[in-house]
Amino acid sequence: MKNNKFYITTPIYYVNDRPHIGHAYTTVLADVLARQQEKQGKDVFFLTGTDEHGAKISQAAKKAGKSEKNFVDEKAASFVEVWKKLNIENSNFIRTTESAHVEAVKKAVQRLFDKGFIYKGDYDGLYCTGCEQYKNSEDLIDGKCPEHQIEPQMMKEESYFFKLSQFQNVLKEKIEKGELEILPQERKNEILSFFGQELKDISISRAAVNWGIPLPFDEKFTIYVWIDAFFNYLTGLGWNGDQLIGSSVRQFKTEEPKGREASENDKLVFFPPDLQLMSKDILRVHATIWPALLLALELPLPKKIYVHGYFTIDGQKMSKSLGNVIWPEELVEKFGVDGARYLLMSSLAFGQDGDISWEKLTEKYNSDLANGLGNLISRVVKLNENIKAQAEENESSGKANGLLVEIKPKEALDEIWKRIAYANKKVEEAKLWEFIKTDAEEAKKVLSELLGLIFEVSKEVAPFMPQTCGKIVEILESGKAEILFPRIK
Ligand code: MSP
Repeated sequence: MKNNKFYITTPIYYVNDRPHIGHAYTTVLADVLARQQEKQGKDVFFLTGTDEHGAKISQAAKKAGKSEKNFVDEKAASFVEVWKKLNIENSNFIRTTESAHVEAVKKAVQRLFDKGFIYKGDYDGLYCTGCEQYKNSEDLIDGKCPEHQIEPQMMKEESYFFKLSQFQNVLKEKIEKGELEILPQERKNEILSFFGQELKDISISRAAVNWGIPLPFDEKFTIYVWIDAFFNYLTGLGWNGDQLIGSSVRQFKTEEPKGREASENDKLVFFPPDLQLMSKDILRVHATIWPALLLALELPLPKKIYVHGYFTIDGQKMSKSLGNVIWPEELVEKFGVDGARYLLMSSLAFGQDGDISWEKLTEKYNSDLANGLGNLISRVVKLNENIKAQAEENESSGKANGLLVEIKPKEALDEIWKRIAYANKKVEEAKLWEFIKTDAEEAKKVLSELLGLIFEVSKEVAPFMPQTCGKIVEILESGKAEILFPRIK
């Protein structure tokens, strides 16, 4: 199998509300990495979408006084719209209420049943609707789900179970060996220590939830929303529920059309995902249930899972009831699309949580974009009006690119901004404003170097800020300074 495809996914987001900056972070990151891989010549497929079934969505629809169908259509549209505003170029947007997804999930679950991976039993346990998961009492703090601050409900029902326990050893080994890589290392350790406890079989049917996919072999039940959701990573590529996938079936060929234009049948060659992005809230299920389903269906496992941190706002958990949610469209309105993308990508250090506030974002915008990058370009272009120096060709250190390959967007940006700071300092130290009158030759030399550096920077920022990259090149070519990032009060 040639190594020139790149399949990247975000989680599919619940449509109980419109997207906030947490969702935007994961999606922009996927977009940045997709653009980078594409620039490096890979055929890229970038999947995102929405998770639309289950009790949580049904309750939210009722609360809004709408039918489930109308409600999910409306919310899914808000995700599509916000991603457009953020200049996200996903290859497909998968919705779990699409009939092709529904049919594929039914077939897959039927196959799991036929192969003996599903059996009937009784379930009783504490269920958190926020997580759409049963909780162990050890997971709770003061009897409440720490994630949602609600007391899980006791539920007892007849249920079908998936034999997750059977996969404990093989999964543990694959994760240990890095066949299924989990980054950062702390998260991998966390999962491995979780494998120290016995994995329990999981209930995959719901008797009380109507808003879901009917269980094909017992239609009194619907399929548990997480099982439904995981299959998006396959149906998003056009999987119909029974095709085999992988190197044994098909070879990925260089000549095949680009992912973003691939025909229906070609898309399956992108499986398995090369990189799945998410944050820590959903790592455990992605490192257990998801790969176990794949093993049971004899499908290949994802290669890498990257777990990023959480945003807090002014030191607090973002929540609608606290009224501190930052919506991505507000960021775009205030800072422009590339400003918003830059600020998101520079907010979380590798694997760490990060705290943001409007104040901090505005400060960072002004210092890095209005002053740092914007100012550098307008100064250099103005200085060059008479001299007309040409950009000196220089090799990029490749550092920023390397950091981005390691999924360190903030660290990559920091590296690029070091070069910008160096260039701004050089403009001042070289006293170019005076030099240009007294020693035009010397000034020309320095300007050539600076122009070369700006070209490099424009390439390095391209995956993060695609429009800005184009604008910088235009400015340099026309020699006309233009304000890239107006200062904001
Ligand atoms: N529907 C499930 C995922 C199913 S995937 C088969 C789900 N949806 S969600 O809407 O809750 O999205 C969770 C994801 O959104 C996180 O894993 C993360 O990618 C992103 N974020 C949500 N809140 C976040 C923060 N406060 N900070 C950073 N990202 C977080 O779980």
